[in-house]
Amino acid sequence: MATGLLRRAVTRLPSISPMARAIISRAHASEAEANQIDPSARPVSTPKTFQIYRWTPDSPQKPELQNYEIDLKECGPMILDALIKIKNEIDPTLTFRRSCREGICGSCAMNIDGRNGLACLTKIPSGGPTMVTPLPHMFVIKDLVVDMTNFYNQYKSIEPWLKRKNPPENEGKEILQSKEDRKKLDGMYECILCACCSTSCPSYWWNPESYLGPAALLHANRWIMDSRDEYTTERLDAINDEYKLYRCHTILNCAKACPKGLNPGMQIQNIKKLELQS
Ligand code: SF4
Ligand code: SF4
Ligand code: FES
Repeated sequence: MATGLLRRAVTRLPSISPMARAIISRAHASEAEANQIDPSARPVSTPKTFQIYRWTPDSPQKPELQNYEIDLKECGPMILDALIKIKNEIDPTLTFRRSCREGICGSCAMNIDGRNGLACLTKIPSGGPTMVTPLPHMFVIKDLVVDMTNFYNQYKSIEPWLKRKNPPENEGKEILQSKEDRKKLDGMYECILCACCSTSCPSYWWNPESYLGPAALLHANRWIMDSRDEYTTERLDAINDEYKLYRCHTILNCAKACPKGLNPGMQIQNIKKLELQS
């Protein structure tokens, strides 16, 4: 714009000195250079197809995989970023759960290319299409949202809270625990109840109502192992059952699926060992 005005001014002022003319034409050249777009600097799109499970109770149609294509150059790196982009920009009817976006709430658990995981912690794989389906062997409420009622009821059934027969030594104060006893809860207290483990367990697939599954059993062990809890024997008795506990055949799919790196199968082994000793 500025050099444009100058250019017009130059033609109207033929008496301009050769030096000034050279400066002005150099400015003109710089503007032309600046306006030229370097082809290598142009953002290249990286298209990626997502095949997403769609089903709604409002329609009599069977579930289907729907394809969505997005540009990865304009998307965050995680599967959840892609789902949010699709929902915001392409299809607002796509339904999924999410909250914290950092692997804490456990609500974005789903099956990604055949593996259970958290959408917010799973990187978008490079290459061909990525398939996203609900957690396996669960009743679907809509699209990627599954019914967690049975899973939560099983968690509730193990009474996941501190149970005491005696009042605390110091009335109104915390019940203390040694560092060693506290350490026994490592590998269990970190569970975020995402259900990735239970829904990857073949025993849970076949007996979802009667087998408690790895997540609920991990929590059972968490309270069994808590030095402050005084209901250890009752807790062991309550799950000493052919179906509730002994459907676990130590296949360890649960440990592979856990996005927090926990090993529910190992905790179940501990319960079985304590059952033998009790
Ligand atoms: S170890 Fe037990 S709980 Fe874990 S996947 Fe295997 S059968 Fe299921
Ligand atoms: S043990 Fe792991 S996979 Fe299972 S519910 Fe807890 S965090 Fe999720
Ligand atoms: S959104 Fe909370 S764990 Fe993924």
